[in-house]
Amino acid sequence: MVGHIVAARPLLAGVFERVGIDFCCGGRITLAAACAKRGLDVNTFISVLDAVPSAITSATDAAAMSLSALADHIESTHHSFTKEELPVLVEQSQRVAMKHSGRDARLTEVAQTVHEMAREMIEHMAKEEEVLFPLVRALDQNGELPSRRGSIADPISEMEAEHQETGAALERLRTLTDNFTPDSESCNTHRALLAGLARFEQDLHLHVHKENNILFPRALARLPANV
Ligand SMILES: [Fe+2]
Ligand SMILES: [Fe+2]
Repeated sequence: MVGHIVAARPLLAGVFERVGIDFCCGGRITLAAACAKRGLDVNTFISVLDAVPSAITSATDAAAMSLSALADHIESTHHSFTKEELPVLVEQSQRVAMKHSGRDARLTEVAQTVHEMAREMIEHMAKEEEVLFPLVRALDQNGELPSRRGSIADPISEMEAEHQETGAALERLRTLTDNFTPDSESCNTHRALLAGLARFEQDLHLHVHKENNILFPRALARLPANV
């Protein structure tokens, strides 16, 4: 599975990113299926992957962290980044839509989609920080969940479904912006918005990958048998 490959070798994330293979929300498919979807020859792609050094230097080795450390890491890096970036993207997309939707009517939908995605992401991260991650840390530290708090399977399914929704919003934004590409008439704010959306997508893919493919399955595997 693509998600498992990136979990084992985080440095490959950038290669998957560049060819447009989804290793987070859509990471539960085989490499052959993912390559077929993108029109790539699987054997050629495997040789590209093999050429990437396996030593982990700059990339975070999320798979080697404890569950608590990984939850802390996700909050302090990806959640912080997302909280800083979203208001900027909302403001820029509204400004660009106001000024230039006469030239490109899609900019109105871009602004609406960014606004809705921001609202959902803020709620989503609050649920992780206030409900799910504290349960994951308790499970990690005590080997069991606090009493009368139910299982973590339901909140995990809910978070995974919300990841799909955010992934779909970003796909829509990619389509509406011709893959985040400016044209000759795009103003600087428009260019900054497109670059910001591309960077946001890149971070979100890593963020969701660490949750869907590493944190969540490892937390579920730690549940006592009777939960
Ligand atoms: Fe998160
Ligand atoms: Fe999440």
